[in-house]
Amino acid sequence: MSSTHRQGHLSGLVLLGILSISASQGAEGPYTSAEECAKCHSSIYKYWSESTHAKAVQSELFPTTLDRALALSKDQTRTKRECVGCHSPTTLVTGDFELQEAVSRQGVTCDFCHTVKDVELERDWSPFVADPGPVKRGPFAYIKPFKGHDAEYSALHRASPLLCAGCHEFKNGNGLLVLSTYSEWKLSQYSGRGISCQDCHMALVPGTKVKEGLEQDDSSVRVVNLHRLAGGTSVGQLNRGLDLRFESVSATGTSASVRIIVSNSGAGHRIPGGLPTKSLVLVVSAVDPSGVAGRAQERVYRRELRNAKGSTLKDLAEIFLSAKSVGEDTRLKPSETRTERFTVPLTQGSRAVVARLEYRDASAPGTPPKVSTITEARWELKNR
Ligand code: HEC
Ligand code: HEC
Ligand code: HEC
Ligand code: HEC
Ligand code: HEC
Repeated sequence: MSSTHRQGHLSGLVLLGILSISASQGAEGPYTSAEECAKCHSSIYKYWSESTHAKAVQSELFPTTLDRALALSKDQTRTKRECVGCHSPTTLVTGDFELQEAVSRQGVTCDFCHTVKDVELERDWSPFVADPGPVKRGPFAYIKPFKGHDAEYSALHRASPLLCAGCHEFKNGNGLLVLSTYSEWKLSQYSGRGISCQDCHMALVPGTKVKEGLEQDDSSVRVVNLHRLAGGTSVGQLNRGLDLRFESVSATGTSASVRIIVSNSGAGHRIPGGLPTKSLVLVVSAVDPSGVAGRAQERVYRRELRNAKGSTLKDLAEIFLSAKSVGEDTRLKPSETRTERFTVPLTQGSRAVVARLEYRDASAPGTPPKVSTITEARWELKNR
C-alpha cells in the first residue's frame, strides 16, 4: 500500500540535505515548538495534536498520577525524571522536569522524535541518543536541499520499532517489565515478517506533507503518515485488531451452550496493552424481543501485576513504582484465537444470544471505568 510512495523517494537516494537555513530552530532552547513545525507541516500537526502523544503530560491523568507516584517514591528526583522524561522527552535534554517551557508541555513532540539519532535500549537512564538541531530525520532521502531545515534519511524512523520501544518498553526499579509492547511484538510473527509499529500505527492517509509550493516531490499523490497514533482510546483501531463471532449455540428450554471465538487478528502485540488498568471484556447474555438482556456473564482479558507482598495492584502510580511480579495474564496474544464457552440461562422470552466486546479503562482512581463497545455479535434463537 505504501511502497510506491516510499520507493519513489528512496530511489532518489543520492545526497542528503545539507543546507542549513535553520529557520525552525527555536531561539530559546535546543527544541523547536510544534507550532513552528505547523507553519509548514499543518496537516501532520493537526493529526499529531489529536494524538495522546500530544497530551501525554497535559492529560487529565498524568499530573494526578505523578503526584501519587511522588508520594509513594523513596527517590522523588529520580521518579520525576523518569515519568516526565517519557511523557515529555525533550526534558531529558533540557532538564525542565517542572514543565516550565511551552515545548515541555507538548509531551511527545515533533522535534523530539525527528531529531533522535539512535535508540539503545540497554543504555542507562535514557535509551535515546538525542541530537536536537537543524537536521530533521525522517523516512525520505532528498536529492536537493530545501527551505526550512536540513534533513536526513533515517531507517530508525522509516521502519524500526526501536524508535517506539524507547518509551513503549519499561522496566521499573524492581526489574519488572511494566510496559512490554515492544518485547511482545518481537515474539510475534509480525517481527519476523518485518511489519513494524509504524506499518500499523502510522498508515498513509490523505494529507499534504508540507505547505503547497514547498514539496520536494512532483507526484500528485498527497499522503502523509498518520500521526494520530491510535490505540485503545480509538474504537476504530480496536476494531481493526479484534474479531468476534459465534461458533455454535445449542439451546434447550432453559439454557444455551454457547461457543464464541475471539481473536487478536490485527495487533502486533497482546490486546489490551500491558497496563492492568486497561481490560478487554467479553460480555454475553440472552435478550428478549425488546432487547432487554438477561443476566450477563463476562470473560476478562487483562494483565495482573502484584507488589512484593503479592497483592494485586490497581492504581497506576503503584503499578509503575511497586509492581514486582506478574499475576494472571489473560490477554490475547498476537494472532491468537480463543474459543470461549458459556452456559447462558434462557427464559421463555429469550430470542437471541448477544456477545459484546468492551474496552474498559480504569486508570482514574475513584471514578467508574470508561467503557467503550468495540463490537457486537448476535445469534438468533429459532423456534422460540
Ligand atoms: C518508559 C516510558 C515511561 C515511563 C518511565 C512512564 N510512562 Fe507513563 N506511559 C508510557 C506509555 C508508553 C503509556 C501508554 C501505555 C500503553 O497504553 O500501552 C503510559 C501511560 C501512562 C498513563 C495512562 C494514560 C492514560 O490516559 O491512559 C499515565 C497516567 C502515566 N503513564 C503516568 C506515568 C507516571 C506517573 C509515571 C512515573 C511513575 C510514568 N507514567 C512513567 C510511558 C512511560
Ligand atoms: C519553512 C518550512 C518548514 C518548517 C518550519 C519545518 N519544515 Fe520540515 N520540511 C519542510 C520541507 C519543504 C520538507 C520536504 C517536504 C517534502 O518531502 O516534499 C520537510 C521535510 C521534513 C521531514 C522529512 C525529513 C526526511 O528526511 O524524511 C521531517 C521529519 C520534517 N520536515 C520535520 C519537521 C519538524 C519536526 C519541524 C519543526 C521542528 C519542521 N519540519 C519544520 C519544510 C519545513
Ligand atoms: C512518536 C514520534 C513522532 C512524533 C511525535 C512526530 N513524528 Fe513525524 N514521523 C514519525 C515517524 C516514525 C515517521 C515515518 C513513518 C513511516 O515512514 O512509516 C514520521 C514522518 C514524518 C514526516 C514525513 C512525511 C510523512 O508523512 O511520512 C514529516 C514531515 C513529519 N513526520 C513531521 C512531523 C511533525 C511536524 C510532527 C509534529 C506535529 C511530527 N512529525 C511528530 C515519528 C514522529
Ligand atoms: C518519547 C516517548 C514515546 C515515543 C518515542 C513513542 N511513544 Fe507512543 N506513547 C508515549 C506515551 C507517554 C503514551 C501515553 C500517552 C497518554 O495516554 O497520556 C503513548 C501512547 C501511545 C499509543 C496509545 C494511543 C491510545 O489511543 O491509547 C500508541 C498507539 C502509541 N503511543 C504508539 C507509538 C508508536 C507506534 C511509536 C513509534 C513510532 C511511539 N508510540 C513512540 C510515549 C512515546
Ligand atoms: C499488526 C499491526 C500492529 C503492529 C505491528 C503494532 N500494533 Fe500497536 N496496536 C494495533 C492495534 C490493532 C491496536 C488496538 C488494540 C489494542 O488496543 O490493544 C494497537 C494498540 C496499541 C497500543 C494501545 C494499547 C491499549 O490497549 O491501549 C499501543 C501503546 C501500541 N499499540 C503500540 C505499539 C508499538 C509500540 C508497536 C511496535 C513495537 C506496535 N504497537 C505494533 C496494531 C499493531
